[in-house]
Amino acid sequence: MYLGLDLGTSSLKALLIDDNQRILGSASAPLTVERPHHGWSEQDPDSWIHATRAALSELGKAYAAELARVRGIGLSGHMHGATTIDRDGKVIRPCILWNDTRSYHEAAELDADPIFRRLTGNIVFPGFTAPKLKWMAANEPEAFASVARVLLPKDYLRLWLSGEAISEMSDSAGTSWLDTGKRAWDDSLLAATGLDRSHMPALVEGTERAGALRADVAADLGLPAGIPIAGGAGDNAASACGMGTVGDNHAFASLGTSGVLFAANNRYLPNPGSAVHAFCHALPGTWHQMGVILSATDSLNWLAGVTSMKPSALTSELGDTLLAPGSVMFLPYLSGERTPHNDAAIRGSFTGLEHASDRTSLTRSVLEGVCFAFRDSLAALAQAGTSLARVTAIGGGSKSDYWLEALSTVLDLPVDIPEGGDFGAAFGAARLGLIAAENADPLSVCTQPATERTIHPNRDLSAAFDEAYQTYRALYPAIKGAMS
Ligand code: XUL
Repeated sequence: MYLGLDLGTSSLKALLIDDNQRILGSASAPLTVERPHHGWSEQDPDSWIHATRAALSELGKAYAAELARVRGIGLSGHMHGATTIDRDGKVIRPCILWNDTRSYHEAAELDADPIFRRLTGNIVFPGFTAPKLKWMAANEPEAFASVARVLLPKDYLRLWLSGEAISEMSDSAGTSWLDTGKRAWDDSLLAATGLDRSHMPALVEGTERAGALRADVAADLGLPAGIPIAGGAGDNAASACGMGTVGDNHAFASLGTSGVLFAANNRYLPNPGSAVHAFCHALPGTWHQMGVILSATDSLNWLAGVTSMKPSALTSELGDTLLAPGSVMFLPYLSGERTPHNDAAIRGSFTGLEHASDRTSLTRSVLEGVCFAFRDSLAALAQAGTSLARVTAIGGGSKSDYWLEALSTVLDLPVDIPEGGDFGAAFGAARLGLIAAENADPLSVCTQPATERTIHPNRDLSAAFDEAYQTYRALYPAIKGAMS
């Protein structure tokens, strides 16, 4: 038995697999995001511990005997968050999350120093970790002075589980402190934010052992004491391990809170100019690229909130037949955008509203807007040397066939739907737990699921979607001009 723990933005998920990687069961506990000021997005790290306890206690109701036989744990989590810890191991302030845009000035300042793009292979985005610490130094100097360690969210869970401050390459590549090609912390990058290696956790590969479960926590969670915890991965690389997206140019499109177009690479292929992320993969000696859309299902959730509907009810009322885009256009920039704009200040918009526009027109435009954002990411990956032949769809939004057919048509790529199962980040984390515990061969563990069916581009509508995409492209500079 192996356990995957995925610290998501809206819930923590615990997933149990057996020795043959069959999923026995899973349980989730909800998490909230606090937005106390414009552009802020925070979480209390204590809530991650409560959620882990709640999810394990729920899982234990049906699988207590199996939990007692777990041989390894893998961790996954939302990336880039700054969890700051003082000398006594206490959390200094709420964790500043990946979709928090407060530090855009600091990000631009760091990004203007060419060493950052040269060594990290990435733009310093406001959501990344380093600018958040620079923001703290300027705005919360006392808190900053007490920082003894900066941990990524899932690594804070590891600290609680094992007592050890350790991270791994895939998540650390999103800090702006890692030399991504060398897979090592860089002193100059750290110094630029007033930090040094003593503030950083030790580094391992995602497949390696990184701590062992403390006896008291083990008793609390119903797990055996001393079992190994794998390095694990940031949520996107963990999902890739779950999906078997580990071979060169294999790709997935994740319609989650954020939208991610992810491609695995055997080589390090940075291209910060196209706002593509180039990070280490969780498997040793591999990297990946991804385009990141900050609000994917988050855009639909927002519309669901303002219309007092459930997201699934909004998509169901569209029916099954894909329609050509109407007059309403939606830009999904609810908390700014990463790929391709690197623009923390831009905000979303609806254009083209008319008397006939009803709720379904708004829903369709939200789904289409997210698909167009994915096409921007596809173009950015192409500029970074990666061309895709097909993508596999994952994430909550992939439950809507309407959305997937629109995506396939907009990207002009077949979209594969994996055969029933749960191949998300928690499953990938559990696989990493298995690899670390058994010293197993990563490639023979991280296989691809069978494809249940493939959704193909709707060629009758390709021209209409192409035309709408051109309008979408033209709207960003126009709206930006109007907002500034
Ligand atoms: C990736 C990113 C998000 C978070 C939350 O760069 O910011 O995908 O990891 O899921």
